[in-house]
Amino acid sequence: MAQPETTTPAREQWTGQYGFIIAAIGSAVGLGNIWRFPGVAYENGGGAFLIPYLVALLTAGIPILLLDYSLGHRFRGSAPAVFRRLGKRYEPLGWFQVAISFVIATYYTVIIVWAIRYIGFSVDLAWGDDTVGFFIGDFLRDEGATFSTDIVGGIFWPMLALWLVVLVILALGVTRGVERANRIFMPLLVVLFVVMVVRALFLEGAVEGLNAFFTPDWAALADANVWIAAYSQIFFSLSIAFGIMLTYSSYLRRRSNVAPTGFVVAFANSSFELLAGIGVFATLGFMAAQQGVAIDDLEGIAGVLLSFATFPQIVSMMPGGPIFGILFFTSLALAGITSLISILQVVSAAFQEKFGLSRVQVSVFVGGLCMVISLVLYSSTSGLAILDTVDKYTNEVGVVVSAILTCVIVTLGARKLPELRAHLNAVSTGNVGRWWSVLVGAIVPLALIGMLVSSLSDLFAEPYGGYPQTFVTVVGWGVVGLMVVAALLYTFVPWRRPVDDFTPDVLPTAQEVRR
Ligand code: ALA
Repeated sequence: MAQPETTTPAREQWTGQYGFIIAAIGSAVGLGNIWRFPGVAYENGGGAFLIPYLVALLTAGIPILLLDYSLGHRFRGSAPAVFRRLGKRYEPLGWFQVAISFVIATYYTVIIVWAIRYIGFSVDLAWGDDTVGFFIGDFLRDEGATFSTDIVGGIFWPMLALWLVVLVILALGVTRGVERANRIFMPLLVVLFVVMVVRALFLEGAVEGLNAFFTPDWAALADANVWIAAYSQIFFSLSIAFGIMLTYSSYLRRRSNVAPTGFVVAFANSSFELLAGIGVFATLGFMAAQQGVAIDDLEGIAGVLLSFATFPQIVSMMPGGPIFGILFFTSLALAGITSLISILQVVSAAFQEKFGLSRVQVSVFVGGLCMVISLVLYSSTSGLAILDTVDKYTNEVGVVVSAILTCVIVTLGARKLPELRAHLNAVSTGNVGRWWSVLVGAIVPLALIGMLVSSLSDLFAEPYGGYPQTFVTVVGWGVVGLMVVAALLYTFVPWRRPVDDFTPDVLPTAQEVRR
C-alpha cells in the first residue's frame, strides 16, 4: 500500500498580482453575468432589481469575497484543507464546497457548448422564424422532465471536445494553464463585448429598454423573492462561498495586497454585469419596438430562453444581425470558459492535496468522472429540465447553506474572525474596518437564514418549475443529498499529504502594518 507523503510539494503561485486579478475577474465574469443576470433582472422587475442587487453586492458580496480571500490566503490550501485548519470537524464544509463546484461544472459546460454551437447558427440565422421551436425541438430535442438516455450528437461531441480542452488547461496548472488562458481570453472578451453593447445602444427602441432597466420600482422592494434572487445572483456571479475565491487566493504570494484586490474584482464583475444588462435591455427595447409592445409584455425572457431563443429572434430582426449574434455568443462562450476553469480548480486542488495526486492524475480521473456525468446528463434529451432543477437547488439551497455555515464556523465555531481581519489588514494597504466583522459575523448569516427559510418554504409548497414531484425530489433534493453525503465521506478518507502541521504566519505588529 502506498504510504502518505511526508512533505507537500511547493504550492503553485500566480506570476503576480496582475495574474491573480485577471484570473479572479475571469472567474467572476461568466455565464452568470451575461446569461443569468439580464434574465433575473427582467423577471424581478427590471429597474426594481438594481437596488437589491447593489445592496446584496455591498452587504454580502464584497464581505464574503474578502472572507474567502482571507481564508485562502491565511490558511493556504484547498477548501477542505482550509476548513480543516480551522478545526478538524469543519472539513466537511470544505468538501461540501468542492461538491457544489463539481455539480456546477457538470452543467456549466453544456451552456458553453450551446453558446459555441450558436456562434455557428448565427452565421446563416439557422434558427429560422421559430427560435423557441428550434432551440427546444430541433437543437435540444427536449423531452421535458423525464430520465431519458437518448444522447444528442450535436451537443455530445462539442461537449466532449470542450471538456478535453479544459482538462488540459487544468492539467497544465495554475500559471501555465489557468493564468495563461485568462490572459488570452479576458482581453478578447472585453473587446468583443464592448463592441456588441455599443452596437446595441444604436438600435431603434434602445432608450426604452434602458429606461426599463434603470427606472426603480420601489414597490418591488417589499417582495422577498426579489431579494433572494439578488443575493443568489451575487453569490453565483462573484464565485463566492463555494470554494473558488478561497482556492484562487491560496495561490497568491505571501506579500500580496489582498483586500483592495477584492474591491477591484467585485467592481469589475458588477461593471461587466451592468454592461450586460445595458446591452441586453437595449436589445429588448429594439424587439419591443419592432413588435409594437411594451418591454414588460415581452415573452420568453426568463432562464435559458432569453439567450437561446429571444436573442436569436432579435438577431434575425436587426440589420447586421449575424455579426451581432457571433459577438454575443462568442462573448458568452469566452466568459464561460474562464469561469469553468476556476470552478474545476476548486475540485482539482482538493483532490491533489487530500489524495496526493498530481494535477494530471486529478484531471484524468476526477475531471474524467465529472466529464462523464456531465455528458450523460446534459447531452441527453432531458438535459434542460435537469439543468434547470439542479441549478436552482445548488444555488438557492447549496450555496446559501455553504455561505451561512462559513460565516457561523468562522465567527462562532473557530472564532477566527478577528484573526482574519488582522490578516487582511496586515497584508493589504488600506484598512478593513469593524463593519466587515459585523457584516460577516451577524448581518449576512442572519439575512441568509431568513432567505433560506423563504426559499425552502417555496420549494416545499409546490414542485419547482411545474415539474412532476418525483422528478424534483430525485433531481433537486437528490443532488443536495449527494453533496452532503460526499462531503461526509471524503472527510473520512485519510490525508495523503500533511495538512495539520500548518502554522499561519505570525501577524505583523500594528507598527509594521502602518508601514
Ligand atoms: N462567477 C461565475 C459566473 O458568473 C460562476 O458565471
